[in-house]
Amino acid sequence: MEDFIFQNTTKIYFGKYVLPELGNEVAKKARKVLLVLGTGQVKRTRAYTDTMQSLHDRQIQVVEWNGIPPNPPLSAIKQAIELSRAESVEAVVALGGGSVLDAAKTIAAGHLFQGEIWDCFGPKRKCRILQALPVFSVLTISATGSEMNGTAVVTNDETHVKASLYSEAIYPAVSFIDPSYQVTLSESMTKYGAVDIFCHVTEQYFNQNTLSDVSDALSEGIMRTVLQRTKQILAEPTEVEPRAQLAWAGTMALNGLPGLGRGGGDFSSHRIGHALSALYDFPHGLTLAIVLPAWMRYVYKEAIPRFAQFGRNVFHLKGSDAETASKSIIALQHWIHSLGISTSLVDQGVRIDALQEIIRNESIPYPLGKLRVLEPNDVENILHLTNY
Ligand code: NZQ
Ligand code: ZN
Repeated sequence: MEDFIFQNTTKIYFGKYVLPELGNEVAKKARKVLLVLGTGQVKRTRAYTDTMQSLHDRQIQVVEWNGIPPNPPLSAIKQAIELSRAESVEAVVALGGGSVLDAAKTIAAGHLFQGEIWDCFGPKRKCRILQALPVFSVLTISATGSEMNGTAVVTNDETHVKASLYSEAIYPAVSFIDPSYQVTLSESMTKYGAVDIFCHVTEQYFNQNTLSDVSDALSEGIMRTVLQRTKQILAEPTEVEPRAQLAWAGTMALNGLPGLGRGGGDFSSHRIGHALSALYDFPHGLTLAIVLPAWMRYVYKEAIPRFAQFGRNVFHLKGSDAETASKSIIALQHWIHSLGISTSLVDQGVRIDALQEIIRNESIPYPLGKLRVLEPNDVENILHLTNY
């Protein structure tokens, strides 16, 4: 087990009817807020009216910024930063999913930052964010875990590069997770969210063969929950209880806990997925559905006992380590296919002759990953494997 430092500063309100507390929490820090919204789907739901009601009940002034699309683009975020400054807001409230949340975090940081905010993104960043306006979030889709972490993922729409910003200053101060808001989600977004949650755990679970008993049990429990509850949600989309179970799995998957004691995550599938979103604007969860099984097939021989443990404890497989390790990847791919998601890049309309552009996209930093350190030729091999 590796040494670690852990801190997570986000306060969570979880459950039905928690929104009345939003106004009370915001009022502790701000009298005027920027409310960040997506493309209009969430604005048509009860989550929006509840949010407005709660803020108005405490006489909090609301300036709205509408129109953050999925894979949030830097250009829109910069416009929102200008508005936040012009309006002298004191906090940022995100109402939506990971895209809106990550935009809100970046706006909160950019509001107080004097330089070029994009310079703080990615592994080659030139600066760090040390302060930000307080961020509050009302989560409407469980997927990214952004509601309880200090990461924002943004697409530079000029250079077509997707990269992350991490700062202790952008952990949401308070996040509200009311799973009943998620019954309006489309079936495809529900499934992509589930794949994203599952992948967040695998990114931290398959890492340098370092075991950490509590983190393993937590990780395997989250993955089993995703498999079981996604099936229930798809059978009964308006039932809140399975949505609640998946929602907490989603928050736990990327709040730092499942990776403790393993020395940091791998995140190769995420980086390759980011290149696909940067170039083709694919939904984040779809990119992971394509890349994760192929990445596993490419690297699993580095960690046969670990993949066997995954097969036994997540998919209830039996057999020798070698058999179970290889079958675990088939089981994962079978689950993704059972959701009606193709794991083939070609099926998404990506031509084989476009692979070089993907491999060279700067969303992928080389050398990549930890379980097996990857170079561009490895990523090319993985992308070819997506079609088998
Ligand atoms: O446009 P709006 O109105 O917001 O509608 C959204 C959006 O069109 C819709 N939606 C959300 N909740 C809904 C709903 N529609 C009906 N009813 C609801 N209750 O769903 C669409 C997708 O939303 P989005 O926010 O893009 O989804 P998600 O939460 O999957 O976020 C994906 C983004 O987060 C990043 C991804 O890269 C991607 O940019 N990630 C952020 C991470 C982080 N901050 O830690 C880590 C992740 O690995 C990921 O990279
Ligand atoms: Zn993700």
